[in-house]
Amino acid sequence: MAAKLILDDQSIDLNVIEGSEQERAIDITALRNTTKHITLDPGYGNTGSCKSSITFIDGEKGILRYRGYPIEELADNATFPEVMYLLIYGKLPNKEELGNFNHDMTYHSMIHEDMKRFFDGYPRDAHPMGVLASMVAALSTFYPENTPEDVDKNVIRLLAKMKTLAAFAYKKTMGQPVIYPQNHMTFEENFLNMMFAVPCEPYVIDPVITDALRLLLILHADHEQNCSTSTVRMVGSSQANLFISISAGIAALWGPLHGGANQRVIEMLTKIDADGGNFKKYVAMAKDKSSGFKLMGFGHRVYKNFDPRAKILKAASDKLLNKLGVSDPLLQIAKELEDIALKDSFFVDRKLYPNVDFYSGIIYRALNIPTRMFTVMFALGRLPGWIAQWMELRNEPGGRISRPRQVYTGENVRKFVPIAER
Ligand code: CMC
Repeated sequence: MAAKLILDDQSIDLNVIEGSEQERAIDITALRNTTKHITLDPGYGNTGSCKSSITFIDGEKGILRYRGYPIEELADNATFPEVMYLLIYGKLPNKEELGNFNHDMTYHSMIHEDMKRFFDGYPRDAHPMGVLASMVAALSTFYPENTPEDVDKNVIRLLAKMKTLAAFAYKKTMGQPVIYPQNHMTFEENFLNMMFAVPCEPYVIDPVITDALRLLLILHADHEQNCSTSTVRMVGSSQANLFISISAGIAALWGPLHGGANQRVIEMLTKIDADGGNFKKYVAMAKDKSSGFKLMGFGHRVYKNFDPRAKILKAASDKLLNKLGVSDPLLQIAKELEDIALKDSFFVDRKLYPNVDFYSGIIYRALNIPTRMFTVMFALGRLPGWIAQWMELRNEPGGRISRPRQVYTGENVRKFVPIAER
């Protein structure tokens, strides 16, 4: 298969590459050497940055698969450690492999006591995403990466320790003593216990809550070349170490157009609630470009039909609130907002549907996770995906540093004018 590009009177043949799901890409890697042209695609809406065998998305059909397994099947049947293993090592673990992996996820989850003291230096109201990004970066000073064996160990360390860092960051904002991880607990139990236990009262594990957390973590675990994952790959392409590359991904995730949207959704729904539940007013504002207001949790670069994660979460939020006997007025507002937006031609024409962040916040609230921790929860879920993508990049033979080009639009050459003459 080939494509032909006609440029002035020159005809250039370009290879067409086909992926395993028949999606096609025109390979332009040799274009500049042949014609001195580059391609321009701000926001990379039409640019493939790599070949990857980790996650497949068909945005038109609302399909998401990790290593070939549909997200719906994983959501129904898998544990989060199984999904972490699947993403990172490329296959579902057998019993023994999973046993060893679960052991590692607990036995490496403590953090160095010297590092624990870092938490004392942050202001009490520090945003936990800022704390998490800097603490993950700080792991690189404790666990250097000199050999391939160091990389393997650091993958395990990061997977096991990030939940501890996240929970410690929360405890500090509460002014409470940190709670250490427990080796007999599962991943979810450990995290919830570190978040909510206090020395004077143990945290009572509720399987309904741990299962909801499992679901959320799995649904966030990877999403191919989104902003934070591309950042992880970009930083990793300079052969920067694992921790610092993931820290950059956490920073990218924090933005409100990406993972930070989950916090903004709840803030928006709270505002609408306080405004008498007048959701129509907010839909009108979202349609008015001059208002600067967007419906947070709506729209996606890739999904143009529905976001399969949002579909699962909408059903799960209903069930969970029922099971826990929680009634959240924000869930009702979210549904009404969705209903009205899905019938409105502004949203229909632009193919704007609720994304994963639209309903996840309702569930986090039901689990008592504070709003400012929502994006941290996203980061905890996304961690295995970032690591898998970083490892794929690292193991690629002949991998090159990521270095886009630009079309320069500034001044042409001019002579320096000494200060006295300006
Ligand atoms: N509310 C109102 N209008 C919107 C929205 C929205 N949430 N999202 C997109 N639009 C409009 C946009 O103004 C544009 O209109 P027009 O064609 O008239 O100029 C059109 O829809 C296409 O949008 P876009 O901004 O070109 O789309 P994008 O692919 O560049 O951006 C997005 C995708 C997710 C950043 C954007 O939809 C958005 O800002 N949504 C709200 C924030 C959000 O929920 N982010 C979480 C994304 S899902 C989790 C994750 O993976 O990060």
